[in-house]
Amino acid sequence: MKTLTITRPDDWHTHVRNGAVLKTVLPHTARQFARAIIMPNLKPPVTTVAQALAYREEILQAIPAGGDFTPLMTLYLTGSTTATEIKKAAESEHVHAFKLYPAGATTHSDSGVADIKAVYPLLAAMEKQDIPLLIHGEVTDQNCDIFDRERVFIETHLSGIVENFPNLRIVVEHVTTTEAVQFVQAGGNNIAATITPQHLLFNRNAILAGGIRPHYYCLPIIKREQHRLALVAAATSGNPKFFLGTDSAPHITPLKETACGCAGCYSAHAALELYAEVFDRADSLDKLEGFASFYGADFYRLPRNSGTVTLEKTPWTVPAAYGVNELTITPLQANEELNWKMQ
Ligand code: NCD
Ligand code: ZN
Repeated sequence: MKTLTITRPDDWHTHVRNGAVLKTVLPHTARQFARAIIMPNLKPPVTTVAQALAYREEILQAIPAGGDFTPLMTLYLTGSTTATEIKKAAESEHVHAFKLYPAGATTHSDSGVADIKAVYPLLAAMEKQDIPLLIHGEVTDQNCDIFDRERVFIETHLSGIVENFPNLRIVVEHVTTTEAVQFVQAGGNNIAATITPQHLLFNRNAILAGGIRPHYYCLPIIKREQHRLALVAAATSGNPKFFLGTDSAPHITPLKETACGCAGCYSAHAALELYAEVFDRADSLDKLEGFASFYGADFYRLPRNSGTVTLEKTPWTVPAAYGVNELTITPLQANEELNWKMQ
């Protein structure tokens, strides 16, 4: 049997929610990853260090007994964030970044930033304190085609941010287009990107061809095949600017399977296994360890993990659903066979 052993990986972008959903999903993340960057888009959002520390405690309570997992907390940037809070965040050993959501871009982003130029003084403070800025890079203009929103964000906002704050460490989260890949490649070493499993495995036909499949709907929306190919090339290139971030975003099944379903793919149940599939198909399994276990830690200036995980090439079937009290979460690739399994 074919096996692959790599240093324990980290997930540099995940949503674990709180309450009952947290209890269902956190064991999945903690089984595969040593650490994860925890997104702050709760309701209400996590905007202060004090809130992040309380949320961290709730996450720690959800780790299964004997588990070894470290949540890396982030704060939600709003128009009311203060320079004092940025300094506090930079000084906290548990807070590792700020997240910028353009207001209205995605799930739970209504408290996000409506005017990006207006938060430039805050970006200056982050640059000075050397705390990374994580960006959901999509414009929210209703007149902009949903498939163009990432490209247009790069042109109208991201270029300006990078020019004005040349030393700010930025992660362009969940890149989905050739243009985003090229932008990150052309930037300095302070510019990096995460890539999700769904954007590496699927193109937009997965959502729309032969029937509408809400479990493939996430934001930024999955694009054309040419973009998927650019993402696979970037992820498997060994370029340390690109690293693993699942954007696993659980929603209970009835909120996905409805007339106006929520954005978000749930992938934490099989994250590393899904990435292994991508790297195997691209004949690049030797590049998986850098992408999953080294480059993110290096960018965040955290030590690389010790210990290893082993994947074996043995087929298994993803469950139809995972229970949350009397409800369920439907995972990516539900009822389908995956080729790689973590031991
Ligand atoms: C995320 C969520 O559900 O929190 N959804 C998504 O489609 N990715 C929000 C986000 O990261 O955009
Ligand atoms: Zn996300």
